[in-house]
Amino acid sequence: MTVSSNFNQYFLHTQMKTQGCHFYRPSGLQIVVLLAIFLLVCSLFDNRMSFKSIPFSRRQNVSHQPSNYSSQSPKENSKAFGVDLDSKENEQEHVGLPPENCDIFTGDWVFDRFTRPLYIEEDCEFLQESMTCIRNGRKDTVYQNWRWQPRGCSLPKFKAKLLMEKLQGKRLMFVGDSLNHQQWLSLICLIQYAIPPSKKSLTTYSSSLTVFKAEEYNATIEFYWAPFLVQSNSDSLDGRSGQGDRIIAAESISKHGENWKNVEYLIFDTYIWWMKSIYTKVYRSEGKLEYDEIELPVAYERALRTWAKWVEANVDPKKTHVFFNSMSPTHVRSLDWGNPDGIKCSTETTPIPSNSKPVYVGTNRQLFNIAVNVTGSMKVPVNFLNITTLSEYRKDAHVSLYKDVDSKLLSPDQKFTRAKNADCLHWCLPGLPDTWNELLYTQIVPWWF
Ligand SMILES: *[C@@H]1O[C@H](CO)[C@@H](O)[C@H](O)[C@H]1NC(C)=O
Ligand SMILES: *[C@@H]1O[C@H](CO)[C@@H](O)[C@H](O)[C@H]1NC(C)=O
Ligand SMILES: *[C@@H]1O[C@H](CO)[C@@H](O)[C@H](O)[C@H]1NC(C)=O
Ligand SMILES: *[C@@H]1O[C@H](CO)[C@@H](O)[C@H](O)[C@H]1NC(C)=O
Ligand SMILES: *[C@@H]1O[C@H](CO)[C@@H](O)[C@H](O)[C@H]1NC(C)=O
Repeated sequence: MTVSSNFNQYFLHTQMKTQGCHFYRPSGLQIVVLLAIFLLVCSLFDNRMSFKSIPFSRRQNVSHQPSNYSSQSPKENSKAFGVDLDSKENEQEHVGLPPENCDIFTGDWVFDRFTRPLYIEEDCEFLQESMTCIRNGRKDTVYQNWRWQPRGCSLPKFKAKLLMEKLQGKRLMFVGDSLNHQQWLSLICLIQYAIPPSKKSLTTYSSSLTVFKAEEYNATIEFYWAPFLVQSNSDSLDGRSGQGDRIIAAESISKHGENWKNVEYLIFDTYIWWMKSIYTKVYRSEGKLEYDEIELPVAYERALRTWAKWVEANVDPKKTHVFFNSMSPTHVRSLDWGNPDGIKCSTETTPIPSNSKPVYVGTNRQLFNIAVNVTGSMKVPVNFLNITTLSEYRKDAHVSLYKDVDSKLLSPDQKFTRAKNADCLHWCLPGLPDTWNELLYTQIVPWWF
């Protein structure tokens, strides 16, 4: 399958893997001693601290209240949407985490215009023009009103402050292509209401690394460009248009990896850049120009094994959590969902019903299975974020014609012409990547994680 779009960025993927919970079994004497100390500590606190807060305290002595909010009240603003700024500490019970045996990736899209979208497009100063579909002239807004509802449980409410407290003093980094780049921007938009304007900034450190800083929390949310994860000629700025040959160095990753060290949360993806051909061009050796053409699945697995080796050699699972986003699907053949009159995704305004027969929109499931296998066979636990199927339903959520503000001015004829080049790869924001972040959030906020 050929994806001919001129995407210049990325993609994401995941699987839940239960983190081992190691329960410490104290002896009877130890319990008595601990209880005595506990009661003593409680009495010292003069009843000002609620009893139940102690065992679940996740942070010590951190100032939660930003010293000064700006004149606008981001709190009131956010209340209108589904983001909750309150994060009364020690209320892990109220986070509403799904039970561990619930598969949060299997479910349905539910129309919910009361809590979705989670933020409004024009409130997020960091959104790029290529994603602001409403500003670019999209008239139907219903694509913003769908909430992901797992079949066996519910997702917790997204609490921006709770997440930021979890990220206190830490780094979170998305690594990959333009789809991971979108998820990165989505996360910044999701937490922005919790941070006053002067306390956040975006800094570009190199052509590959851009860093969002939340000063009060001393936390960063970063994006690193590596569309194949391994090194490739698409890493540099002039290779990013995706127009020329894409050539990978399947066994080379350390130049990228240097930038991933000492990050507490790493979220990887790689898929869409592979989809140009069923053969992948692979350099014979690093630094040489000759390359071989290798079958896509073979090359993909070689690259992922290189990545897995890097993770195992460089990541301390006690300090760093690793996530892998499964492939973000495209919607380029309207016949896939039974619409003979459609042009790619350009006329779609509603999701494919999830109770219909299995959706096939051209996602390469062989690569999916390789990613499942590689991430599942590593010594370092990798959380596989299984976002592919739930995203496959969302034929309505792509950027489509609304790539830039000029789209506003298109006449019906121009729309028709443009439809053939519709971007059915990237997503509008607010939109689907917000849901990917809710799923990521669900795995990051548990107190034991
Ligand atoms: C905790 O906060 C109190 C009061 O704000 C401060 O005096 C104390 O030094 C802090 N302790 C630590 C360990 O940061
Ligand atoms: C909080 O912000 C207001 C208005 O921006 C300002 O007048 C005030 O001095 C600030 N307070 C602190 C403690 O920074
Ligand atoms: C991913 O989710 C889909 C349904 O949402 C499910 O059918 C599939 O088995 C899941 N795959 C993995 C590897 O978890
Ligand atoms: C801020 O976080 C970084 C790690 O991301 C840490 O090295 C540094 O010491 C922290 N600074 C403060 C003032 O806490
Ligand atoms: C994944 O692993 C299973 C079991 O080892 C194997 O049967 C299957 O062929 C593998 N799939 C891929 C795509 O490598």
